[in-house]
Amino acid sequence: MNNLKKQVLIFQLNGEPMGILADPAESLLTILREKLGLYGTKAGCGKGECGACTVLLDDRAVNSCLVPAGKVQGRKVETIENLSQGGKVHPIQEEFVEKGAVQCGFCSPGMVMSAHALLKENPQPNPEQVRVAISGNLCRCSGYKQIEEAILSAAEKM
Ligand code: FES
Ligand code: FES
Repeated sequence: MNNLKKQVLIFQLNGEPMGILADPAESLLTILREKLGLYGTKAGCGKGECGACTVLLDDRAVNSCLVPAGKVQGRKVETIENLSQGGKVHPIQEEFVEKGAVQCGFCSPGMVMSAHALLKENPQPNPEQVRVAISGNLCRCSGYKQIEEAILSAAEKM
């Protein structure tokens, strides 16, 4: 890649300051996985259709495959790696396992991050609000019912 295109991007990543030299036109997903080794965020369609790459940008769920890295300048990015703290998994993750909402698990990080964004904004969502929040996340194997139940149950627990 042409170094002339690169710029220093400074942002907050999982609560810590981050500075990285990157092409601002590259996707945030590429930066996270290929430059920062954060493989928890999955690369699926690369076109904004599957939600596997969901992360939080200023507390809102976004498809990181569609976010040019230049857009994160000065902002706050949160990935699935930030959810388990001190060796303890997050209640949303706990409930996904508990309710059988994880099968192959490919969609799970994105689903969990969409749920995380929802519960930050609305700690007591109703089932319809949960369905809307995960409407951009595709799951090929588990029923959406278990995922919905897991998120409602995590909301109660939290
Ligand atoms: S990989 Fe980003 S939406 Fe599918
Ligand atoms: S658990 Fe396999 S895609 Fe959702």
